[in-house]
Amino acid sequence: MKFLSQVQPEELKGKKVLLRLDLNESSLEKPDRIIKSMPTINFLKEAGAQVIIISHIGRDPHETLVQIAEYMDISMTKEFDAELLEANQVIMLENLRQNPGEESNDEAFAQKLASYADIYVNDAFAVSHRAHASLVGVPKLLPSYAGLQMEQEMNHLSQAFHPTSPSILVLGGAKFETKLPVIQKFLPIVDHILIGGALVNNFYKEMGYETGASLIDQTANITHLIGNPKILIPEIVIVENEKGQEEKLASAVALGDKIVDVGVSALEKYSDEFRAAKFVLWNGPLGNYENGFTAGSKKIVDLIVTSGAVSIVGGGDSVTLIEGLGLADKFTFLSTGGGAMLEYLANGTLPGIEALG
Ligand code: 3PG
Repeated sequence: MKFLSQVQPEELKGKKVLLRLDLNESSLEKPDRIIKSMPTINFLKEAGAQVIIISHIGRDPHETLVQIAEYMDISMTKEFDAELLEANQVIMLENLRQNPGEESNDEAFAQKLASYADIYVNDAFAVSHRAHASLVGVPKLLPSYAGLQMEQEMNHLSQAFHPTSPSILVLGGAKFETKLPVIQKFLPIVDHILIGGALVNNFYKEMGYETGASLIDQTANITHLIGNPKILIPEIVIVENEKGQEEKLASAVALGDKIVDVGVSALEKYSDEFRAAKFVLWNGPLGNYENGFTAGSKKIVDLIVTSGAVSIVGGGDSVTLIEGLGLADKFTFLSTGGGAMLEYLANGTLPGIEALG
């Protein structure tokens, strides 16, 4: 694979570069992905390239990148416009997903995109788990490079495959479908796997505890993981019930309870493991983040920061929480990827990375 960082500026001067970014920001308050795209945009501009930015936004094909382009102060065009590119060194095309050919990886759509440029750069790690036309079709047709953020993501996340021991993987959120492969892959690699979020409810259920009205992933089969000494299952939870909120032993959850967070005191029990840790990898909040249950996740932030371990975090909610607490600089690396990070960890690569050769 070729990296943009290794390309000499003279090779880019006057060239048209099709730059695939992930500008899929849910809010412009802390536009992490935009900020992390800037080094690649500036690298190309300073080298004298003409830059055509392409991205998707959201899942509804009617969504638009207009507000993102305005925020970034970049001229926007629905269809490629050579004159606009002559007049502006950087332009942005409208949401790729407005064309059904993007998601179906249509060859004609990939050819159309490739025809705009001389070179292709993928700096969209966070969407590179999708085999879409702009990610896997275009690089077959143009000389292709991994952008600066993509290189950072690969360098940092691949450290997780050979972590310095003792190491801890913390997994929260829901959807076993994306997290079970990560648990399987990392069981032989790390020293501990701490489970929180809705994932842990499945463990309680499998252990024979009542889980009441808690969110359970009905499709997951985790029987083989029960009792594994590497897997840390918090013993205390926060539940919501008709009385309000209560802290309880996980084994004492009743039919009318809904587990909404991990108890902070249960996480404190792992202080020694975190203090000793040299490497911590975290994806997914420990509690029901959307509904404001952030105490468990904040405790994990605290445990990681005090450990001084090499720390790599991904997943929108975890990263938003860390940035909101003003602690981003206390972490070694905050990934732009959520699902992409998990797939990269599970498989060691992604379709959009493979396509770069
Ligand atoms: C993300 O936000 O995770 C990426 O932009 C991918 O979006 P998608 O899940 O809609 O493909």
